[in-house]
Amino acid sequence: MRMLQKPHCFIPLFVITLISLSRPCFCSYRDNPFRAHGYDHPTTTSRYPYSGVSKLFKFEYDDEIQSRVDNAPTPVDSTVVNVDDFGAKANGSDDSKAFKEAWEYACNSSQGAIIVVPKDKIYHLKPIDFSGPCNSPLILKIYGTIKATVHHSDYQRRRWLFFDNVQNLRVEGEGIINGNGRTWWLKSCKINTTLPCNEAPTAVTFSQCSNLRVAQLRIQNSQQMHLSFNKCVNVKVFNLFVIAPGNSPNTDGIHVSETQNIHIKDCVIRTGDDCISIVSGSQNVRVTGITCGPGHGISIGSLGAGNSAAYVSNVIVNRATLSGTTNGVRIKTWQGGSGYAKNIKFQNIKVHNVSNPIVIDQYYCDHHKVPCPKQVSAVQVSNVVYRNIRGTSASNVALKFNCSQRYPCREIFLQNVAITSTQEDKEEHIAEASCSNIRLSYRGNVSPPC
Ligand SMILES: *[C@@H]1O[C@H](CO)[C@@H](O)[C@H](O)[C@H]1NC(C)=O
Ligand SMILES: *[C@@H]1O[C@H](CO)[C@@H](O)[C@H](O)[C@H]1NC(C)=O
Ligand SMILES: *[C@@H]1O[C@H](CO)[C@@H](O)[C@H](O)[C@H]1NC(C)=O
Ligand SMILES: *[C@@H]1O[C@H](CO)[C@@H](O)[C@H](O)[C@H]1NC(C)=O
Ligand SMILES: *[C@@H]1O[C@H](CO)[C@@H](O)[C@H](O)[C@H]1NC(C)=O
Repeated sequence: MRMLQKPHCFIPLFVITLISLSRPCFCSYRDNPFRAHGYDHPTTTSRYPYSGVSKLFKFEYDDEIQSRVDNAPTPVDSTVVNVDDFGAKANGSDDSKAFKEAWEYACNSSQGAIIVVPKDKIYHLKPIDFSGPCNSPLILKIYGTIKATVHHSDYQRRRWLFFDNVQNLRVEGEGIINGNGRTWWLKSCKINTTLPCNEAPTAVTFSQCSNLRVAQLRIQNSQQMHLSFNKCVNVKVFNLFVIAPGNSPNTDGIHVSETQNIHIKDCVIRTGDDCISIVSGSQNVRVTGITCGPGHGISIGSLGAGNSAAYVSNVIVNRATLSGTTNGVRIKTWQGGSGYAKNIKFQNIKVHNVSNPIVIDQYYCDHHKVPCPKQVSAVQVSNVVYRNIRGTSASNVALKFNCSQRYPCREIFLQNVAITSTQEDKEEHIAEASCSNIRLSYRGNVSPPC
């Protein structure tokens, strides 16, 4: 992983990985009879033998990420860098300058450094870039609270705490990161429909980081998204509380884009948008032990917006509990996109009163005013396993597969799925499945079936 320490090496490596991984897929597209001859059966629900499932998912990479992140160099003879020594006051005035200087000092250290944000104090920060590369591994220990400025004019870009191009970094410490987002929510077009739709900042972004660990923090009331990983490799995220009101607009919990080898583990996420969203360029994503709700559930996508190509592969979501969310596990793609979402496994999932527990929506469209025009191409969804998913649905539609007519969902496997309607005592509220353009197979008990 040493070679990844230079930023210039990172992008070509990523591109090469992407190209080499996508090649077999392009070949299989060409070989795919549905594609080659155009597929015009409006709805096909075939039950073909449940073969080959066991070899679908071999997350060999997983132990490797673990050991890379766990064995990543950490500060040894570290310098302890306390933000207070750089003039942070935690008295309500702006502490940005002290944090920036503490970061630069630590980043310049050649024997590693631990930056300490002391306990029982509230530090106020404007947007800050914590940039690397640094000369040695760093730990940012947040014991106290970091709170965002509410002056919108302080934000030139859509970010608040921005970690860029840092290798061997740990951010941890049982403290609080507070995006102080209320004033942004009130300005959202989703809250006040007379206002124009403007994006708000992401509270914490990690961009082009490698060997990264983010743990044991509470991240709350973000301006928009709480935590975003973009173009990172080898990331471990665990024991986070990510909390915002259920009606706060677009406050996704954890967003993963163009990131490889990421393990998100044992987090509680209660927000106003997706609990976890995984978008294009992401590969080898493992999500385990997540408690979610309120919010919009765990999403792959949206993918393929604006006729773009999207690639997501090797995603496993294992052991999640979703309560009162609008969706459970969802794959959402726009019409007109291309590329793929493949090798995805959702297993051991509990849903409690989730409006749509299992969703593949290839007609995703979040323009509320104008409907999206009909387009033929689509992101190909294939090789998706739903295994041991149980609980209750708040709507009648427990399973919803609305796949592309031209590029139907393929190799969709359902095994031991049992979802009932929350109001099943009433006859008109029997859980059902709505399935279009999908090739699927079953094993064990699946209820409701397509
Ligand atoms: C915080 O402390 C600084 C330096 O002592 C002082 O200049 C500033 O006025 C204080 N701010 C508040 C809000 O008390
Ligand atoms: C970085 O560290 C070197 C060597 O320890 C020192 O000479 C230099 O002044 C430091 N630069 C900054 C910006 O702290
Ligand atoms: C919505 O925004 C408009 C324009 O800024 C403002 O006049 C109005 O009071 C806002 N409505 C609410 C309910 O906040
Ligand atoms: C289930 O969710 C619906 C709407 O999402 C809500 O109205 C209802 O109170 C919830 N029921 C329970 C038992 O939580
Ligand atoms: C699938 O999505 C299309 C476009 O939004 C919609 O017209 C259709 O009713 C949906 N089908 C199902 C079965 O939900």
